[in-house]
Amino acid sequence: MLLIRGGTVVTAETSQRADVLCDDARRIVAVGPDLESPSGCDILDTGGLLVMPGGIDPHTHMEMPFMGSVASEDFYTGTCAGVAGGTTTIIDFVIPEPGHSLLDAWKDWRSKAEKAVSDYSFHVAVTHWDEKVHEDMGTLTRECGVNSFKHFMAYKNALMVDDDVLLRSISRALELGALCNIHAENGDAVAYLQADLLKRGMTGPQAHPLSRPPSVEGEAAQRVIAIAGLLGAPIYIVHVSTEEATAAIAAARARGQRVYGEVLAQHLVIDDSVYADPDWLGAAQHVMSPPFRPKHHQKALWAGLASGQLQTTATDHCCFCAGQKEQGRNDFTKIPNGTPGIEDRMSVLWHHGVLTGKLTPQEFVAITSTNTAKIFNIHPRKGSVSVGADADLVLWDPQASRTVSAKTHHQNVDYNIYEGMTLTGLARYTISGGKVVWADNDLRVTRGAGQYVERPCFSPDMQAAIHRKTTS
Ligand code: URP
Ligand code: ZN
Ligand code: ZN
Ligand code: ZN
Repeated sequence: MLLIRGGTVVTAETSQRADVLCDDARRIVAVGPDLESPSGCDILDTGGLLVMPGGIDPHTHMEMPFMGSVASEDFYTGTCAGVAGGTTTIIDFVIPEPGHSLLDAWKDWRSKAEKAVSDYSFHVAVTHWDEKVHEDMGTLTRECGVNSFKHFMAYKNALMVDDDVLLRSISRALELGALCNIHAENGDAVAYLQADLLKRGMTGPQAHPLSRPPSVEGEAAQRVIAIAGLLGAPIYIVHVSTEEATAAIAAARARGQRVYGEVLAQHLVIDDSVYADPDWLGAAQHVMSPPFRPKHHQKALWAGLASGQLQTTATDHCCFCAGQKEQGRNDFTKIPNGTPGIEDRMSVLWHHGVLTGKLTPQEFVAITSTNTAKIFNIHPRKGSVSVGADADLVLWDPQASRTVSAKTHHQNVDYNIYEGMTLTGLARYTISGGKVVWADNDLRVTRGAGQYVERPCFSPDMQAAIHRKTTS
């Protein structure tokens, strides 16, 4: 057993001095002041640190095959980097090749993830439509603990689905009680603009943001919101990066639609000036979709988080090293899209969110952990510090600082998007399943100790509410 003593427990609701007792079966068994220590119990004296639910990153791509490459970070190294930054659960994506079985792909990803050091779960992407997809969605929700399906409106001729597939898949998910995730960018518009830019001789990474302007995201967000609205289905829009998409989500919510929005830590603090880097690799390392945006979009994203119109933060952690980015040296459309970030998400949000007064510590917990657990139906098992919850915790030092660098990070990638940034607020200890896995800069992980987290479909209450709303 493990007794965490002398900390301040901060949850999405409250902050109070309390000890936390974890048993050997990965659970929290007591929370309260001055807990007795059972005999033989390990004691961790926190010296006044904040004790918060471990971070949940709802959007990662470990060892993802993408754009002719495979992301360099695997489930072992990626979850190590996660716990070093205070993240104890990831929700990664199973991406079946178009035409292939969802269920077989889910089995592949289950075996890839067996080496994870902390807990993980999966969204499953729908990349085409046929009867088998309809059937596999049923099997995945009923038997495999999957309650969310992902759709790419971009990446034409690869992962993109059209409105017909969106309608069928969102409707099927609704029938099953699952939530659809959407990458909202108009893939036809992106393909058109890419071809046009290349024709005009613009082959460098500077052209990447020009091929995906804010309106490309705004249009797709509005369209999928309208489609979900027709069906009465809730949806979750991933990596919202623009004022336009934020406004579309806020307007839908004001109309009473259940639309959730996720923000990446990267988009909150890095702007589109990175594409002006005269060093090709420096700019290519920032090629991700949606791209980095002019600064005023960051203001809208922060306001969206602070007001509750946007609910979660993620990283879309998708790592490609220099040699992989090189693939697009003569054609920016061939640069594998993606940036790293899992290790630094929590510190970035504390430093730029809490220390600037944009967020309270409780709001920080909500957007780094609790809201995700609620939306994806694993609360209060995850995202809370309560009796019966999983003993996944971060012991947070709100005052200590560190300077981010690829030389010292744990991510398996040769650059860090926040290189040189000094951040205040860091994970001093991380507890996963009741075990200390990160202690003062020391990783104490066990390969394979992470467990697969099954996520049940919407609760009967949520199902009934959705049904009443669509029939009244
Ligand atoms: O550029 C990105 N975001 N790469 C990962 C795939 C995706 O779109 O999420
Ligand atoms: Zn059906
Ligand atoms: Zn995406
Ligand atoms: Zn992604």
